[in-house]
Amino acid sequence: MDKNKEIKNKVIEIYTGIADQTKTENANSCCGVGGCSTVDHEVFAEDYSKIKGYNSDADLGLGCGIPTEFAQINEGDTVLDLGSGAGNDCFVAREIVGATGKVIGVDMTPVMIKKARINAEKLNFNNVEFRYGEIEDLPVSDGSVDVIVSNCVLNLVPDKEKAFREMYRVLKPTGHFSVSDVVLKGDLPLALKNDAEMYAGCVSGAIQLDEYMGLLEKVGFKNLSIQKQKVTILPNEILEKYLNKDEIDLYKQGEFSILSITVYGERVD
Ligand SMILES: C[S@@+](CC[C@H](N)C(=O)[O-])C[C@H]1O[C@@H](n2cnc3c(N)ncnc32)[C@H](O)[C@@H]1O
Repeated sequence: MDKNKEIKNKVIEIYTGIADQTKTENANSCCGVGGCSTVDHEVFAEDYSKIKGYNSDADLGLGCGIPTEFAQINEGDTVLDLGSGAGNDCFVAREIVGATGKVIGVDMTPVMIKKARINAEKLNFNNVEFRYGEIEDLPVSDGSVDVIVSNCVLNLVPDKEKAFREMYRVLKPTGHFSVSDVVLKGDLPLALKNDAEMYAGCVSGAIQLDEYMGLLEKVGFKNLSIQKQKVTILPNEILEKYLNKDEIDLYKQGEFSILSITVYGERVD
């Protein structure tokens, strides 16, 4: 099996386990299947509870920003959420687009799609749709979307250029995106980089900020900007599990850092 497929299978396996946990369980206990993990999404997650449209059943505490805050979504828009999980950002977007708009969530983990559909049904929304599929091959037609959002997902995609090209393809020629994600600055020690658990925990699959912005530019996006940026403070138990003393010192001196960012870009044809 090729490496990218192997990584994606691992991601599906881990998020299948996470889907059945509550936000509190994800924060306080083991994330993932097949054993306890120290990877805790709470180091990235933001508080959504005061946001209009918030639905606690859809909030698994897996985000690393609030992309809808920056996405300039209008009533009536068609919004696409990449890696929609249980639907957290989709329901916030639905509040903004209203009954005349449309929200589409795409995810490759079947139980996440199932959970999101149950949440949409409970809310009686007929314009929030969850589609099973991969971001690198989106089940969405060309030029059909006003705004793309995504929350802590693209770092998990092994072929980011392919994912960015798909984003460009499905956006309307006047469309734009606002994406929250994890990126790196400086060289991450190998132990952090090579660990599958850290991959699913949004760290090992993250690429350098400059490379991320460069790829977005390469596929054609214009007017790129970083709307928000925050340095992630890794808890001691993660530092001690993966790094030796010298590496911990380098981390504390800021030689390498893990950033959560929210990035904006436009398709301008
Ligand atoms: C960290 S969770 C974030 C979920 C959601 N955005 C939220 O904030 O609650 C990552 C999600 O992205 C999905 N995902 C990861 N890689 C994907 C890919 N290549 N295609 C589609 N979904 C993907 C996973 O299945 C998982 O549900």
